[in-house]
Amino acid sequence: MALKSDDTNYGAVAVTLHWLSAVLILLLLVSGFRAGQTNDPAAKAEILGFHAPMGITILLLTMARIVWWWRFDTKPGAVGRNPRWQTLSAKAIHLLFYVVMIGMAASGIGMFVLSGAGLIVFGGADGTLPDFDQYLPRTPHGFGARAIVILLVLHAGAALHHHFIKRDVTLKRMWFRRGDAK
Ligand code: HEM
Repeated sequence: MALKSDDTNYGAVAVTLHWLSAVLILLLLVSGFRAGQTNDPAAKAEILGFHAPMGITILLLTMARIVWWWRFDTKPGAVGRNPRWQTLSAKAIHLLFYVVMIGMAASGIGMFVLSGAGLIVFGGADGTLPDFDQYLPRTPHGFGARAIVILLVLHAGAALHHHFIKRDVTLKRMWFRRGDAK
């Protein structure tokens, strides 16, 4: 399988970046909502101890994806013919994913910096975790989290619709077996 995409298929780099991001986003949603719901400070600090580094990792991956598509690779053409509204909404959802992920990382880092939580979670500094609700970036972080859930449902729903109802290769070609997805 080639590293780069061609007219009909995604390349290995694009497929790897896509599924790595998908797994990380799911882990971030689960750990983020758990951190938000728990009242136990020790449990919250422990969850945030991997939530925050994962958030920074997805930021780096998102930047890598942007650079990859911008400088090194070109997306394959659409599979078959689709109504214009579907093409446009797919593009909008993909773009929104990038915007919201960057916003989530920025607001997460903002909460840590403004509240000093970074020193408590990573630096071994004594102290109780801050009440994150008191810090401005907590609000967009909460909205962004819900926006990601909606985007995921739409994005995965569209992929499953292509796979099971239209029975085309839209989902298959975002995987590593090249031969099948022609
Ligand atoms: C970039 C992807 C990220 C995603 C998808 C994500 C997801 C989430 C979610 C779903 C919540 C719960 C929201 C709610 O209950 O309203 C949350 C809370 C939180 N996240 Fe993130 N997050 C990300 C990045 C980060 C980063 C980079 C940091 C820190 C450096 C961070 C720190 C926090 C904190 C402090 C909370 C609040 C916990 C609380 O209210 O007790 N997040 N995140």
